[in-house]
Amino acid sequence: MAIGKILVVDDDSNLLEVISMRLESAGYDVITALQEEDALDAVRTELFDVSVLDLQLSDMDGITLMERIHNINPHIPVIILTAFGSIESAVEAMQRGAYSYLTKPFDHRELLLQIRNAMESSRLALEIKRLQRLLEEKYDAGNIVAKSREMQLVLDLVTRIAGTDSTVFINGESGTGKELIAKAVHVGSGRKDKPFVAINCAAIPDALLESELFGYEKGAFTGAVQSSKGLFAQAGNGTIFLDEIGDMSLALQSKILRILQERQFYPLGGKQAVEVDVRVIVATNKDLQNEVKEGNFREDLYYRIHVIPVKLPPLRNRKEDIPALVDHFLEEFNQKMKIRVKGLTSQAMQKLMMHEWPGNVRELKNSIEYAMALTRKDVISEDLILQAAMQPSGILKSFKEAKSEFEKEYLLNLLKITHGNVSRASELAGKYRADFYQLLKKHNLKPDEYKK
Ligand SMILES: Nc1ncnc2c1ncn2[C@@H]1O[C@H](COP(=O)(O)OP(=O)(O)OP(=O)(O)O)[C@@H](O)[C@H]1O
Ligand SMILES: [Mg+2]
Repeated sequence: MAIGKILVVDDDSNLLEVISMRLESAGYDVITALQEEDALDAVRTELFDVSVLDLQLSDMDGITLMERIHNINPHIPVIILTAFGSIESAVEAMQRGAYSYLTKPFDHRELLLQIRNAMESSRLALEIKRLQRLLEEKYDAGNIVAKSREMQLVLDLVTRIAGTDSTVFINGESGTGKELIAKAVHVGSGRKDKPFVAINCAAIPDALLESELFGYEKGAFTGAVQSSKGLFAQAGNGTIFLDEIGDMSLALQSKILRILQERQFYPLGGKQAVEVDVRVIVATNKDLQNEVKEGNFREDLYYRIHVIPVKLPPLRNRKEDIPALVDHFLEEFNQKMKIRVKGLTSQAMQKLMMHEWPGNVRELKNSIEYAMALTRKDVISEDLILQAAMQPSGILKSFKEAKSEFEKEYLLNLLKITHGNVSRASELAGKYRADFYQLLKKHNLKPDEYKK
C-alpha cells in the first residue's frame, strides 16, 4: 500500500516525470497534472495527502491554483516549487496558505522530507483543533498559533500530557511562549476548573517568596498581623506555575524539593502540615543542566522537576509560523485599537521572514503592535516594520531584561562613584550590605576592580 497520495503540478513534463519517479520509488502514490483543469479535476475526485505545485506555470499562476485547490479541499498542505531568486512570491504563497516552499533546483531528499513533514503536520493539525476547541471553551489560551511542525509537535505533546498529573518542565528562550504553554497544559487537564496560580520566582525577593509560596501564621514574624494562605494552598486542587525557576535561591530550592517529595508543607510559624494536591509546571529560559553543573541549581530538584520536558523552539528556527502569527496579532490589535489594518506589504513580510528574532514571539508581537500604532495606511509598509523590529533599545525588551540592564548600569555607577567601597555603595543605594553583595554577584561585578 502506498504511504500517501501526492498531486504534483508542473508545466514541465520532464520535471514532472523525474519528481513522480522519485516519489513513487519512495512509496507514494503520485498523480501528475500539466494543466490547471486537470489538477482541479483530480482534487475534486480524489483525496490527496499533499500537493506539490510549481509557482510559475505557463497558463496561470501557482498561487491562484493553490487557492482554488484549497477552495475544494482546505486541508491539503501545498508545497510550492519556485525558481531561484523569486523568494518574494514564495513568501507571498506562504502568506496565502502554502505549507512550505522549495527553490529549484532542489535535492529530492529535501522534497521527501518536506512531504513527510507536511503529512505529519496535517495529521497533528486535527489533533490540535481538538485541543484548541478545548482551550477556547475556557479562555483565549486557545489562540496558540502553531503552523510549523516544531510547534505542532509541542502542542501534540501538550495534548497528550495535559491529562496526566506529571510535572511539566518548559524550557525555551525568552518570549517563545512558555507561559502560554503552561496555561494550555492546565486548561487541557482535569484541573481546568480549579485555580491556575503563577508566580515569577525571579521577580520576588527570597524572604518574601517563601512566605508567598507557603503562607504564614499570625505572628510568625513582625508584620504578620494575620495569617495568610500561601500560593501552594491557594492553588487548591489546581495547578501552580513556577516561572523562572532557574532564578530561585538554593535555600528555597530545598524547600520546594521537600514539598514535591512529601506533598505537604508547613506555613511559616505553623505547626500543622498542609497537604498539597497540585499539578506543578515550571519554566525557565536557562540551561538548567548547566546550572546544575555550575552548582547554582540542585541536582536532585532538577531530576524531580524534569519529568516531562517541553522544549519551545526559538522563532528563528520555525519561520513558517511568522505569517500566521502576524495574522493572529493583526486581528488582536485591530480589535484592541479599534482600527482596521489589513496586512503587510510583501516586502514588509519578507523583512520579517529574514529577521533573526532574538526576542522571539514577544518581539514579533511588539513589532506588529508598534507598526500598527504608527501606520497611516491600512497596509503596513516595509520601512515601518523595520523601524519596529530594529528598535535598538527600550520598548521591545521584556520588562525583566530592561530591569536587569538598568540594575547593572546603576550598580556599576555606584561602584565607580564609591571606588568599590561596598559599605558606602550599599548605603547610597539604601540596601543592606548582604543584599547588595547578592546584587553584585548576580551581575558578576567585582568591587575590587573599582578600587583606586
Ligand atoms: N504560538 C503562539 N501563538 C500566539 N501567541 C504567542 C505564541 N507564542 C507566544 N505568544 C505570545 O507572545 C508573548 C510572549 O509569550 P510568553 O509570555 O508565553 O513567553 P515566555 O516564554 O513566557 O517569555 P519570557 O521568557 O520572557 O517570560 C505573549 O503575548 C504570548 O501570548
Ligand atoms: Mg514567561
